[in-house]
Amino acid sequence: GKLTQEDLKRVAAHRAVEFVEPGMALGLGTGSTAAHALDRLGDLLRAGALPGVAGVPTSLKTELHATRVGIPLLPLGGDRGPARIHLSIDGADEVDPHLNLVKGRGGSLLREKMIEGAGERFVVIVDESKLVPRLGCTGAVPVEVIPFGAPHTLGLIRKVFDGLPGFHARHRMVNKDAEEDTLFVTDNGNNIVEMFFEDGIHGDLKDISDQLLRITGVVEHGMFLGMATTVIIANKDGTITVMD
Ligand code: A5P
Repeated sequence: GKLTQEDLKRVAAHRAVEFVEPGMALGLGTGSTAAHALDRLGDLLRAGALPGVAGVPTSLKTELHATRVGIPLLPLGGDRGPARIHLSIDGADEVDPHLNLVKGRGGSLLREKMIEGAGERFVVIVDESKLVPRLGCTGAVPVEVIPFGAPHTLGLIRKVFDGLPGFHARHRMVNKDAEEDTLFVTDNGNNIVEMFFEDGIHGDLKDISDQLLRITGVVEHGMFLGMATTVIIANKDGTITVMD
């Protein structure tokens, strides 16, 4: 029968898990695609196929999921953390032709960027619907901001893109249709500003990234530039394309 999008996510995830070797410390991603990788890893670990494998989770949700399927967990850094993170596996919201990503529409961008940035190899798993000509084409680019003065920080973020046609930014809400507007809170106790671009981000991504990160109330943003080492794409027909 016809492959569903969920099938495609699973196909990409299982291919990525083939890169995992005994003894590796892994960065464990967050989201519906990464969840398939966790399930697969759990199955292999319980079958005794991957001795010594453990993971650093990129979110509280992934921590719970990994625990449930029997993946041993490690902290990031410190005496009990792994000396190296050999490989991270995670989904993405968008992938551009240069393997730059938008991540964090699920809200976990900060821990993802810390862990995936610390690792030696970062394998991104997507179905082909995530491929875009330019970042910001299909939805929000999230920015994590500290709660103190969040409306002020939102104002400063707007200034970076001042006058750009079709650009707008707003706080992410818990439920955008609810009467009561409660700000979304990340695993780190922060808030999220969502940036929207009519036709994706034109211009120098590194420069835009630098401008955002120079704003004092900004903690991180969801553009992952030059971080992915491999992208595994599950195509609609069930074939796989590997970009690296
Ligand atoms: C989590 O915050 C995100 O960065 C996810 O990695 C991203 O949203 C992809 O999720 P899906 O695999 O559910 O599309």
